[in-house]
Amino acid sequence: MHSSIVVGAKYGNWDTSCTTCHNPHQQEQNLAYKTTYGKYIKEYICFDNPVTGLNIQEFVKFTAPTGTGSFADGVPYNENVCEMCHTQTNHHRRDGSAPGDAKGGSYVGHFDGKKCTDCHPHADGFYPSGGVAQSPHNTAFFNSNCQLCHVESGGRVDFSAKIPDTNCQRCHGERDAHTSDPARNEFATGNYTYSIMCVDCHDPMISVEGNRKLLRPQIEFSVIPGSNVVNTKRIGPGSLADGPPRNENICETCHANTSHNKGDGTGNGVHADGINYDGAYCMLCHDHNKSFMVPGTSAEE
Ligand code: HEC
Ligand code: HEC
Ligand code: HEC
Ligand code: HEC
Ligand code: HEC
Ligand code: HEC
Ligand code: HEC
Ligand code: HEC
Repeated sequence: MHSSIVVGAKYGNWDTSCTTCHNPHQQEQNLAYKTTYGKYIKEYICFDNPVTGLNIQEFVKFTAPTGTGSFADGVPYNENVCEMCHTQTNHHRRDGSAPGDAKGGSYVGHFDGKKCTDCHPHADGFYPSGGVAQSPHNTAFFNSNCQLCHVESGGRVDFSAKIPDTNCQRCHGERDAHTSDPARNEFATGNYTYSIMCVDCHDPMISVEGNRKLLRPQIEFSVIPGSNVVNTKRIGPGSLADGPPRNENICETCHANTSHNKGDGTGNGVHADGINYDGAYCMLCHDHNKSFMVPGTSAEE
């Protein structure tokens, strides 16, 4: 069920029944797309919205819990089950125009291609409930103390506030962020001005799609927006900077001005000593505990 009969509902008096979305007698999606994730979701959904007076009818494609074919996987928005009916919501409207999905005039979305029901449980009519962080931050202790990471203000946890480095450093005190601010990085060369926080590289909350060390597959500062960053190994193929395409390497994707190791592909991995470090374990020299600067090592065994 998905309706306005919920405390805090804000879009007037509307309602759906189970059979608005489901046909309990047939796996229509599986039949239409030769897939197996059907969940008895209809192939063609019709909805009369009594608040807006709109009659909405669309073919929807729902074939997977994440990525292509999932709840809301990008364009065409009106063919996604979690967007087709929405004309007023702050995220995921059927024409892609939700105010909460835009930043600086361009579409950024709200967890596109992710499993929405992690945070919008079916049992709560798809209203947002929060969800829990992914492993290893999903022990009973974490699950009942979200404010170990999230910002608390006036006795309430503000889940939408960006998590400051100091909260992560409560437990990971030795790790430093990546910044030119001399107060936080005494080794910065002063050649560049930049400030990258823990949660710009790491995402403890949402699935990182197989990456190591909770490293984000999408990084907001990538020089080529939307790049798919892959990190599955410490050295060699799949590692921190393993050669082209450089926009998909965690230690290159953001770099536009460095003298080598650039995300736009205009440079390579050759350092001032003439050695090409493509596929090397960068942290042997670029210490995570010294803001990724050279004078040390934070390499793991
Ligand atoms: C707005 C569309 C919509 C409505 C209305 C709806 N469902 Fe669902 N239902 C879904 C989607 C989408 C899934 C797939 C959820 C997932 O993969 O996590 C689903 C999954 C399910 C499942 C599979 C178990 C699960 O959670 O994955 C059952 C059972 C189910 N729905 C029953 C119902 C019943 C009973 C009602 C009415 C009380 C209902 N649904 C109303 C969209 C809807
Ligand atoms: C059959 C139509 C329909 C489908 C399918 C649908 N919704 Fe909705 N939803 C609505 C309507 C109508 C509203 C009210 C806002 C509006 O009209 O845009 C709404 C509002 C919401 C809201 C805001 C509710 C509030 O009052 O704060 C959330 C969250 C939401 N939908 C999540 C989902 C998710 C997640 C899915 C996919 C599982 C989904 N919706 C699929 C019809 C639908
Ligand atoms: C990490 C948890 C999380 C995930 C994953 C997530 N959401 Fe949300 N969503 C929230 C929270 C919290 C809110 C309320 C605050 C806000 O509007 O950002 C919200 C708000 C919304 C709203 C706007 C409701 C309104 O007030 O108008 C819609 C619609 C919505 N989500 C749909 C989705 C869909 C569709 C997906 C999957 C593609 C998704 N969400 C994934 C947590 C999540
Ligand atoms: C280890 C740190 C950590 C823990 C513990 C944690 N979170 Fe998160 N959470 C994050 C990060 C980082 C994000 C930002 C994810 C993103 O935007 O990609 C986030 C995002 C969210 C969002 C989406 C907010 C928005 O509007 O975008 C919700 C809701 C949320 N967390 C709920 C919870 C709940 C509920 C708990 C406890 C059960 C919890 N989190 C525990 C790190 C954590
Ligand atoms: C309350 C303590 C605590 C807080 C707060 C915390 N973590 Fe963790 N974190 C842990 C523990 C415990 C582990 C597992 C042991 C380890 O790897 O050190 C861990 C592991 C990790 C890992 C390694 C995961 C892996 O796959 O090996 C990363 C990355 C990480 N945390 C990032 C963060 C970030 C980013 C934040 C802030 C948003 C954060 N943590 C907040 C306790 C914490
Ligand atoms: C520029 C991107 C970036 C930033 C910013 C960043 N990290 Fe990392 N972090 C990494 C990479 C890459 C690794 C994987 C290192 C490796 O391969 O061993 C890592 C590994 C880790 C680990 C796992 C270490 C282990 O024991 O396996 C933890 C914990 C961690 N980071 C915490 C943090 C915290 C806390 C912050 C902020 C103070 C932070 N990181 C900022 C990129 C970053
Ligand atoms: C989220 C974006 C981002 C990621 C990820 C990132 N960097 Fe950077 N880094 C920057 C920015 C921005 C600069 C400033 C130069 C520029 O704009 O190209 C920079 C500069 C540097 C510098 C020169 C610093 C100075 O002060 O002279 C080094 C060294 C460096 N990065 C190493 C790394 C390593 C190693 C990794 C992988 C662990 C990494 N970077 C990942 C954004 C990032
Ligand atoms: C053997 C030690 C060593 C290893 C391994 C290493 N670096 Fe470096 N790196 C340095 C030194 C020394 C400098 C400063 C001189 C220079 O620019 O070559 C540097 C500088 C940099 C800079 C900054 C260039 C600028 O514009 O100031 C970046 C970016 C960088 N390295 C990325 C990487 C990446 C990515 C890796 C892993 C593939 C890596 N490094 C591996 C030693 C190392």
